[in-house]
Amino acid sequence: MKQVITGDDSITFYNEEYDETYHSVTGAVEEAFKKFVEPALSFVKDKNHVSVLDVGFGLGYNSAAALDRIFELNPECKASIVGLEKDKEILRVIPGLSCLQIKNYDIIKEMIKCMGRGGAKDKYEYEKGGVRLTLLLYDAVKSIRSVNSLFDIVFLDPFSPRKNPELWTESFFKELRKRIKQDGVLTTYSCARRVRENLRRAGFKVFDGPCVGRRSPSSIATPL
Ligand SMILES: C[S@@+](CC[C@H](N)C(=O)[O-])C[C@H]1O[C@@H](n2cnc3c(N)ncnc32)[C@H](O)[C@@H]1O
Repeated sequence: MKQVITGDDSITFYNEEYDETYHSVTGAVEEAFKKFVEPALSFVKDKNHVSVLDVGFGLGYNSAAALDRIFELNPECKASIVGLEKDKEILRVIPGLSCLQIKNYDIIKEMIKCMGRGGAKDKYEYEKGGVRLTLLLYDAVKSIRSVNSLFDIVFLDPFSPRKNPELWTESFFKELRKRIKQDGVLTTYSCARRVRENLRRAGFKVFDGPCVGRRSPSSIATPL
């Protein structure tokens, strides 16, 4: 897999099948913090336990960046993360990756290392300190149906709607809507009209998120 150094010196990869990189080339870690994590923080600031659903777990930057900010808000906070990812190959890259800009990336690396010893299952669960990570490693359109919990934060980070349409549909968003708490939040980099329409049809209100690395905003969605 071809490695790409992005504008903030963090590393991403180029995926040949999708002909896209895993993150914005203007800054992979910047994207995780600014488009995904920081717009969600005000929704969890008083919580002692935060649950995150990470759709398109990839290199785990969004989840790890969330841990950084959650622990900055409350060092005693516990976190549960459920990651949906169909590509086991991208996970194999994680243990060898250096990501100095995210303090808690080492937790993710360690958990993925343990997974390497576990064979080729479709579900992995780890717990370390106050963090519980569950990975469901098959098509998210199917795996979402086996997720029985409610989440404070949903990160929606597939490849682009044109290349990865199955994770941007009204029906998939309805599955996400069922699993988000009434005071929860969904963040995504896309502001495409069709994506926002599908979010609204699935029962979300949609707001502009920050503009980072480009002129158009990201999207923040909350349950109606
Ligand atoms: C843009 S990358 C995500 C980057 C990631 N959030 C991170 O922080 O490193 C999109 C990810 O979605 C995954 N993906 C695409 N379609 C999927 C599907 N149907 N089910 C599960 N994962 C999928 C890809 O394998 C890829 O890892």
